[in-house]
Amino acid sequence: MLPQWTIEKKRDGAALAPEEIREFIAGFTTGAIPDYQMAALAMAIFFRGMTPVETAALTEAMMYSGDVLDTSVLTAPKIDKHSTGGIGDKVSLVLAPLVACCGVAVPMISGRGLGITGGTLDKLEAIPGYRTNLTTREFLDVVARCGCSIIGQTDRLAPADKKLYALRDVTGTVPSIPLITASIMSKKLAAGLDGLVLDVKCGRGAFMKERAAAAELAHSMVRVGRAMNKKMCAVLTAMDQPLGRTAGNALEIVETCEALQGRGPADLMEVTLVLGAKMLQLAGLANSCDTAQALLAEKLKSGEAWRKWLEMVQLHGGDVAALEDTARLSRAKFIEPLPAQQSGFVVQADAELIGKACLVLGAGRTKTTDAVDHAVGVSALLKIGERVERSQPLATLHANDAARLAEARSLMQSAFQISAQSVSEPPLLLEEITS
Ligand code: URA
Repeated sequence: MLPQWTIEKKRDGAALAPEEIREFIAGFTTGAIPDYQMAALAMAIFFRGMTPVETAALTEAMMYSGDVLDTSVLTAPKIDKHSTGGIGDKVSLVLAPLVACCGVAVPMISGRGLGITGGTLDKLEAIPGYRTNLTTREFLDVVARCGCSIIGQTDRLAPADKKLYALRDVTGTVPSIPLITASIMSKKLAAGLDGLVLDVKCGRGAFMKERAAAAELAHSMVRVGRAMNKKMCAVLTAMDQPLGRTAGNALEIVETCEALQGRGPADLMEVTLVLGAKMLQLAGLANSCDTAQALLAEKLKSGEAWRKWLEMVQLHGGDVAALEDTARLSRAKFIEPLPAQQSGFVVQADAELIGKACLVLGAGRTKTTDAVDHAVGVSALLKIGERVERSQPLATLHANDAARLAEARSLMQSAFQISAQSVSEPPLLLEEITS
């Protein structure tokens, strides 16, 4: 089958056979099929979509474009969690050690932040010495020893996705449900998992702004995972305001440490416990959400989860002393409060604008090659429904550059809306997708 015949077939709206998809992805991975033909196929998929069978075949072809980890040395059930990304989302950092304490193996391959959404790897690299680039052998060894490890995607894991994602980024083909499904699932499943819990974010600060699109993506990923015999479930969670009270790499490490010592903000803990309970249920280690949440709460209370976090960080070469005394983490030159312009109740804390402020401060990147500044970001964020008095702080800004601080200050002022009318806290958990 010539590549152009496959492109024409999809362009005209027909379903591709799994074998055609495999051949095309194999050719693209080796370079036999040039970028322009892959880009044309991606655009045809963008407009014509894919059936569940095609999406599963694309995922499988991309997953097997590189190594699939042999995790058979790990005897515990191997369950991971994936978030589609948001502002202040440090759930993975709390969740991995927490569920590992309950007997789940968590071989987690995470990403870097791009645009306004933060990345787990950037946050971890705010811990001096933490290595996110372990070899496969070291990675499995850390999981075998302490139950969890968080690293970055290697060149050998789903290389077709790495190439295709870069191409989609510059050809207007990112927002396609089958392409996103195959991209996320191929990388995650290449880590040799038994099951995966998906946190699909929805709202202003998320990739998916609309609930219907977020639900469609969640269904698509659950369907593909199940077709590949993985235990799957998904939860749709709100991302209209940041999760927790911090956004920015070192600041989020501080909040993670607080959470693992039982002092986490309510919204962060709610999402963490719901996703953690799903992981325990998929692992067969709890038969109800209540039992699972009680077990997780006990691991936080006893200090086991905190000790597991320190152990994981140490096995990655990270400086544990900087977690025990977070004043040792990098600190910004300018730290200033953002005063409220009027008294009242917070009715909006726009995650997108807060994410943009963090990006302006240097906490994120606009190109994959940009460096991030670990010290900058925002902390002490007020949440929707909370009361504030005029000139009292809505948040604290952390900056290393006066001009960037001025720009971020203005974005932050427009992110918050204050009203004399109180509003109730908006729901965080929107929907569970189990079938
Ligand atoms: N994240 C990914 O890894 N891939 C996509 O296509 C979108 C978000």
